[in-house]
Amino acid sequence: MFVDLNKCGVKPYKNEMSLYIHIPFCVSKCTYCNFCSFAGKQDYIPQYVQALCTEIEQKAQEFGYMLITSIYIGGGTPSFLPLGYITKILDCVKQKFKLSNNISITIEGNPNSLTKEKLQEYYNAKINRLSIGLQSANADVLKLLNRAHTTQEFINTIKTAQEIGFKNISADIIIGVPTQTLEDIKQTLNLLFSLNLQHISAYGLILEPNTPLYRLVKSGKLSPLPEDLQNQMYDFVVKELKQHGFIRYEISNFAKQGFKSQHNINYWQRGQYLGVGLDAYSFVKGLHWQNTNNLDKYIQQPNKKIKTEIETIYTAKLETIMLGLRMDSGLDIQKFNADFNTDFLKEYSYVLENLLNNKLVKIQNNHLIITDQHISNAIISEFA
Ligand SMILES: C[S@@+](CC[C@H](N)C(=O)[O-])C[C@H]1O[C@@H](n2cnc3c(N)ncnc32)[C@H](O)[C@@H]1O
Ligand code: SF4
Repeated sequence: MFVDLNKCGVKPYKNEMSLYIHIPFCVSKCTYCNFCSFAGKQDYIPQYVQALCTEIEQKAQEFGYMLITSIYIGGGTPSFLPLGYITKILDCVKQKFKLSNNISITIEGNPNSLTKEKLQEYYNAKINRLSIGLQSANADVLKLLNRAHTTQEFINTIKTAQEIGFKNISADIIIGVPTQTLEDIKQTLNLLFSLNLQHISAYGLILEPNTPLYRLVKSGKLSPLPEDLQNQMYDFVVKELKQHGFIRYEISNFAKQGFKSQHNINYWQRGQYLGVGLDAYSFVKGLHWQNTNNLDKYIQQPNKKIKTEIETIYTAKLETIMLGLRMDSGLDIQKFNADFNTDFLKEYSYVLENLLNNKLVKIQNNHLIITDQHISNAIISEFA
């Protein structure tokens, strides 16, 4: 489909993008997780990887002229794939696409499946960033979340990865889990501080409908944490991480100097990205589309796009605002005005007046910045 982006009022896009590769398999399903991931479907792995390579080849016929600036292999649990598969997938990408010289390649993994051999394989395949899920260092919380690993396994994995040579390692934790205490969070952070990590993602728990944890809370068997305790935990995490050199650059993301996630920054700056694999989402050249989330259908027709939408000037502006406000640096007003040939402060004065009067946002160095992160979602949704 040809889209004349100049006619829709959105500036033409560069010939570069990020690549997301989705691996939907897990050893078991965590009680809070609503991501497109399955436990017990490992028999599908060979066919799935074959379909993924077919999709990569077919997408390269359409977008092979674009430079790939970052790759993120996410899931699910990519490290659950047996030895050799990740190399095979990356070889398909390298054969069909041109990668930038300083490319960041991340793989997500869980401690129980990240063996020494797999870590060595990833290192040899030029993967230079690991994102490893711990969630909590407390055994009871890990049990409630049905995590398939212990804290000790996490520690061992980090040490092995560092011995192999990985110098950019991120850990995921979750805050606001029912039964969790401030003391648990302290222990979890202290453990992370002892391991010389470069990046930490601290996600506030989202109780996703259709998950066992949601049902436990809805049925009254488990009490949700009071909102003020959740806020206290978040503030504690921000303060402690800052004291240990991890600077917040997005609501849930903290990095040591020079270690922000290139791949995620591209999303938040509304850069282009191609997503391959089950349920993957793409945004390239003004088009948004999603792949099927049905495993059998994907394996039969891996290149089929569903739900294709053409960007409009309205959606482009809204996304730029919503994504920009997630970052600590805020929305770049000057760039917004240049990209959309407008005056942001005038165009959105009907929302801004109230937010500025109530000191929920501020303008600093020509950037619009949220001042109260606890209600960031509510503030962001004011623009919708
Ligand atoms: C989808 S997982 C993939 C990585 C890997 N399988 C793992 O579990 O670590 C990526 C991260 O999303 C976060 N996550 C998933 N579901 C969540 C939820 N309902 N609320 C908050 N964070 C969630 C977890 O912190 C997890 O580490
Ligand atoms: S291991 Fe990760 S992707 Fe799999 S169910 Fe748990 S949180 Fe979700």
